[in-house]
Formats: sequence, structure tokens, C-alpha cells
Amino acid sequence: MAGSIELDRPLIDAPAIGVRVAELAGEITRDFAGSGRALSVIVVLKGACFFAIDLMRHLDLDTRLDFLQASSYRGTSSTGEVRLHSDIHMPIAGTDVLLVEDIVDTGLTASWLLRHLASHEPASVKLCTLLDKPAGRRVPVHMDYIGFTIPDEFVLGYGLDYEERFRHLPAVYAAREV
Ligand code: IMP
Repeated sequence: MAGSIELDRPLIDAPAIGVRVAELAGEITRDFAGSGRALSVIVVLKGACFFAIDLMRHLDLDTRLDFLQASSYRGTSSTGEVRLHSDIHMPIAGTDVLLVEDIVDTGLTASWLLRHLASHEPASVKLCTLLDKPAGRRVPVHMDYIGFTIPDEFVLGYGLDYEERFRHLPAVYAAREV
């Protein structure tokens, strides 16, 4: 996509996000309650941190939190390659891991990160994504928790950016080229 980008229209409003985040947290709490293990919540920076923090506030579990930063993206199109810019710092061996993503598009980042985290020998690894954009998929990726499935549009807000802009918006917007 050439040129710049601006907000087109709201796709998912803030109250709907709030309701869905609480529902997902309820599902996750039910699934992991009684596991007897800590839940390591691993957040993919920067986009997923708004979602992850809101989600964690609703979890009634013994959680740990760490971050990693990876990307397969430049501007509005995927480069097809994943780069790990910074890794987790806490040990996750023997714990249940929940990888938290903002959006799964091609699936390259999430599938690469799931393999990467599995190499640390956790007891289990699951993926929670706020948004699923199935039209962009290039590699299959199993998602355990999905907030919303969206059409093939570039979206902004609630953590999602275009060149670091728009992350702070409380809702998710479809974008258009200008
Ligand atoms: P994937 O590896 O192609 O699945 O892309 C994952 C990453 O691409 C996400 O974590 C986002 O940072 C970015 N991305 C994909 N689609 C969008 C979008 O519509 N808006 C903003 N960022 C996106």
C-alpha cells in the first residue's frame, strides 16, 4: 500500500471489545483453573499489550508475565520473514504458556513464536489472539482463543498501528489509503 493511511470507519467498538475480553478471560480461567501450574502469559510487543493487560485483569489464575518482540511486517504488507527483536527473560519450562497476539494475518509470526516457545519445554502452549484475519493466511496456525474474526482489511487501534500511530485508540477501526 503506497502513500499514507487514515481511519475509515469503526469496526469493533470499545464496549464490544470489553465484553469479549472478559468472556475470553472467563474461558481461559476455566481452562487453566486447577492445572496446578503457573500460567506464563507471553505478550507479543507492541500491538498485543493493550489487549493482554485488559485480559489479565480478568484472569483468576496464578499468572506470570513476560514480553517478546517479533515482526513479519513492514508498513501494511507482510515481508514473509519473522524476526525476533527481543526474547522472553523468565523461565517458562514446566509452566502453561499463553501466547497473546493482537492479530493473526499470514500466521507466520504466531506459528514461528509457538515453535520458539515450545522449544523452552513448557507443559503446554496455547495461542490467544484478539483478531483473526483468515483471508491473509499463508501458514496454518491453531488458535485456541479468538476475540473477533475480521474481513480482509487493514485495521488500526487498540494496540494496532500504522508506523507506530493509532495504537492508543480504544476501538478497532478499518483503515483506508490516502
Ligand atoms: P502475521 O505474521 O502476518 O500473522 O502478522 C502478525 C503481525 O502483523 C501482527 O502482530 C501485526 O503487528 C501485523 N498486522 C497484521 N495485520 C495487521 C493490520 O490489519 N493492522 C495492523 N497490523 C497488522
